[in-house]
Amino acid sequence: MLIVSGTSRAENRKDLARQCCRPRVPLRLTTQRSRLALDSALWREYWRPCRAFFEVDLRLVQRLNRLKKAWLNVLQHPADRLCQMAYCWRYFGLLHHAMRIAIDEPRRPDPLSAIRRIVGFETLLLEAVGEAGTAACAVATRNPVFLLGQLAVDPTVPTPRHVPLLMPSGQEDLFYHYRQLQISGAPAQRVLVSPAIDLLRRADSFIPIDRFTRLVSERADPYWKPRARLLARRILAPLLDARRQATATESGSICILDLGAGTGQLLAKAWTYLARMKGALPQTSFHFVDANPPAFGRSFGLARERAGVTHVEWTTADYRALVDDDQWLRKSGPFGWVFACRLLDNASNFMIEPIEPDNSDGLSLNCLPHRCLAPHSQPEGIRCLMVSTVRRQARGGTIYPQFSLRDYFIGMLILQSRSLDVARDEAWHLPVRRFNPAALITPSGRSLLAQLMKVSGAVIIEDVDVRPEHLRQHKAQFGLPGTAAVFCKGDGFRTEANHFVVTSPEWVRGLRGERLW
Ligand SMILES: C[S@@+](CC[C@H](N)C(=O)[O-])C[C@H]1O[C@@H](n2cnc3c(N)ncnc32)[C@H](O)[C@@H]1O
Repeated sequence: MLIVSGTSRAENRKDLARQCCRPRVPLRLTTQRSRLALDSALWREYWRPCRAFFEVDLRLVQRLNRLKKAWLNVLQHPADRLCQMAYCWRYFGLLHHAMRIAIDEPRRPDPLSAIRRIVGFETLLLEAVGEAGTAACAVATRNPVFLLGQLAVDPTVPTPRHVPLLMPSGQEDLFYHYRQLQISGAPAQRVLVSPAIDLLRRADSFIPIDRFTRLVSERADPYWKPRARLLARRILAPLLDARRQATATESGSICILDLGAGTGQLLAKAWTYLARMKGALPQTSFHFVDANPPAFGRSFGLARERAGVTHVEWTTADYRALVDDDQWLRKSGPFGWVFACRLLDNASNFMIEPIEPDNSDGLSLNCLPHRCLAPHSQPEGIRCLMVSTVRRQARGGTIYPQFSLRDYFIGMLILQSRSLDVARDEAWHLPVRRFNPAALITPSGRSLLAQLMKVSGAVIIEDVDVRPEHLRQHKAQFGLPGTAAVFCKGDGFRTEANHFVVTSPEWVRGLRGERLW
């Protein structure tokens, strides 16, 4: 075990980046108070559980040895595209052929241990000592799935979407892409962190992510500034105008509730932008709610961010339980506006499912990396990769058309079902991500929106999975009398997440978009 224990975040990052270059297979990253520990194994230790399956077949032993060489090369030359290409070719070749041999030669011992090690290669468990919850993570410059995404011909913006799912070796749980934390500059070294897909473990899995983030990062979300600016211009400014018209005779102070606030920086910054746009703001108090306790970066402590803020309160709780608690709502409210930004999609569902490719995809087996990345297929071969991270609607959810990762996803299905059957027909499989309607329902079965509208003027949702039909279905189920809802669009802003405002009918004036009801 190696202890990384910096006295500052910058030092933690530096130590971790240094360790991430070592020729050992990383297994586990643990936080303990201000310390980070990285557990790793020697190459041969890591692959020991596959011995029975590999050793009777010289082809596989040879493939594994070649992967080792390519892995060492990529560790030495992390920015070299040829090294990355050879590494991905070797990795996906080993995965593909191990699965094929497992199917074709059913008497071979213990194929699942071998597939587990290959699928979980360069994937770490992320844990916080003394805390519940397990997450997963991967080091971008070493993870072959991430590097495959980066190999696409045009330069791509690095994103955790390159690795939509992780399954650390020894786990049967899957973890989904969430965030990347930069730990060094040149070459850029990022750690991708992934919460659990299992909904019973999901909330706890954010705990090690939060602890790790605190140790290495000043800003949890790299896109917080543009998101805050958009929130201010698209939603806060028109709501403030409507409020000024409606409450000209009132004292004018406003209380804002932010559910799933994270660091609180999003609303802090949005409030600062709003002050720049609109001049003096009403006296404001903020109530932040998050499943994790308050930590660094709570911006309202800083004088320059205050923008008329008179009071800040933090509550550590599950948002659904809190909104179910009428006594708490009465005591803490009424609220002018309630925000749920990038909160509901934390409860979304993920399933690896068979996917029919679009005709326009022009899909062929050549997109599989063990074929198209072969050195003799270059330079044309690399262009066959299908590793897009652009969202697409399919089967009532969202997919990324990453058909080149077919074997990786099928490997995960094999491990989950403990059966090779799913690999036999060679259908295309991709993860589908879907909004979970339970995210809008309280533990006692009431509507989150109805509960919040009892004590607030407007509920603002920013979310990547909620779509207009989900809110309409929710309205059909719960009624929501006396409310109106707008899906913000057509106002010149291009956004990945959807914005919705649920409010009273007289307040929707000024909000541009589609009226949902
Ligand atoms: C993606 S962050 C969003 C932070 C902030 N709202 C933003 O948009 O930048 C999601 C936050 O929701 C919190 N969260 C997830 N599940 C929660 C729950 N059930 N109750 C309260 N907070 C939760 C997480 O701890 C995390 O801080």
